[in-house]
Amino acid sequence: MNFKELASTYKTPLYIYDLDYMSAQYKELKEAFKGRKSIMAYAIKSNSNLSVIKHFAELGSGADCVSIGEVRRAFLAGIPSYKIIFSGVGKSDDEIREAIQKDILYINVESEAELGRVELIAKELNSVCRISIRVNPNIDPLTHPYISTGLHDNKFGVEIDAAKRMYIRANNSEYLDPVGIHFHIGSQLTELEPIYESAAIVADMVRSLQSIKIELKFFDVGGGLGVKYNNETTIKPYDYAQAIFSTLKGLDLTIICEPGRFLTANAGYFLTKVLYEKQNGSKRFVVVDGAMNDLLRPSLYKAYHKIEPITESKSELSQADVVGPVCESGDFFAKECMLPTLEHNDLLVVHSAGAYGFGMGSNYNTRGRSAEVALKGGKAKLIRRREEFEDLIALEKEFLE
Ligand code: LLP
Repeated sequence: MNFKELASTYKTPLYIYDLDYMSAQYKELKEAFKGRKSIMAYAIKSNSNLSVIKHFAELGSGADCVSIGEVRRAFLAGIPSYKIIFSGVGKSDDEIREAIQKDILYINVESEAELGRVELIAKELNSVCRISIRVNPNIDPLTHPYISTGLHDNKFGVEIDAAKRMYIRANNSEYLDPVGIHFHIGSQLTELEPIYESAAIVADMVRSLQSIKIELKFFDVGGGLGVKYNNETTIKPYDYAQAIFSTLKGLDLTIICEPGRFLTANAGYFLTKVLYEKQNGSKRFVVVDGAMNDLLRPSLYKAYHKIEPITESKSELSQADVVGPVCESGDFFAKECMLPTLEHNDLLVVHSAGAYGFGMGSNYNTRGRSAEVALKGGKAKLIRRREEFEDLIALEKEFLE
């Protein structure tokens, strides 16, 4: 990848996405599930650029959405309604109404109270809403606590007993059609066992529903497949699929996967330029033009992202913190990273930035968000222009007195 050329054409900071890598990941996962009917519903939150979603739409993907904004993005990018799922613990009435009107595959319901709202709104619309229920299997996913979701301590989903009550209620309602069951225990999962255990619990639930004549069609295993940021051992898609298959003996269900990070993380690079080197006592800092408002993961989760310098410098390597211009001590991309002495305008490539990168960005410190570029068949294309100052003040300017 010619990062120098990309930096000179599109300037920095810059997000770069390799769409061919995304295709390869998508195909590998889809292939792993070929023994059964399946839908890969791309988790839009991981990278919600319209061109990225469109790329997955062209591969046949569905979409997992967590706001009506994401549902609208999915439609705009060409994902068919019958492959769109809407999840999340806090859907507003307006969001529920629009999802029902748009006739998406199903709404993933996350509480008894929400089920009541969905029923009421479906009734108002004189419509039948397909639903799935997110079960919280109370399994420790063995990942970072901020991205763990399948324990009762987490706000997501409902306990098995509550889920059963909800299925019975939905089945008896004229306005609800229970078609699926869902679980998602966390993100960046690198152990198969918790996934297998959760799938087994949820599959048993499907069997117990069958015994009371509630027949579901979709078994939604969520997302969560981990990727290599450093030297993690990751789960192979084939083993993942086999573990899930092994829990579904005797059940005829379409499997739905909601992969995000697996498809996008290692397809993405964040390119930033060195502004200055500075030394505070014995501490060396490399100050770059990108910041936590562009890529929050290191600040928020202390997440590791490999940093690769592009420089002519042949100097010895020494430890440095790579930091941005934002006024927070937590504004860093790496701590104690081994780097040569860098010059003004040298480039640093921050790897594995395709998932939860741009999307978690902000305008903090009145910084415009970076441009995004997609690479396909060796060709680069701008897919989001850089935000300018005028964009940042557009919604305030008219109120200035
Ligand atoms: N499905 C549901 C219901 C989810 O909550 C998530 C992610 C996914 C699918 C996609 O998970 P993935 O395949 O990408 O692991 N910002 C954090 C990650 C938050 C994940 C939230 N839910 C990070 O940067 O690590």
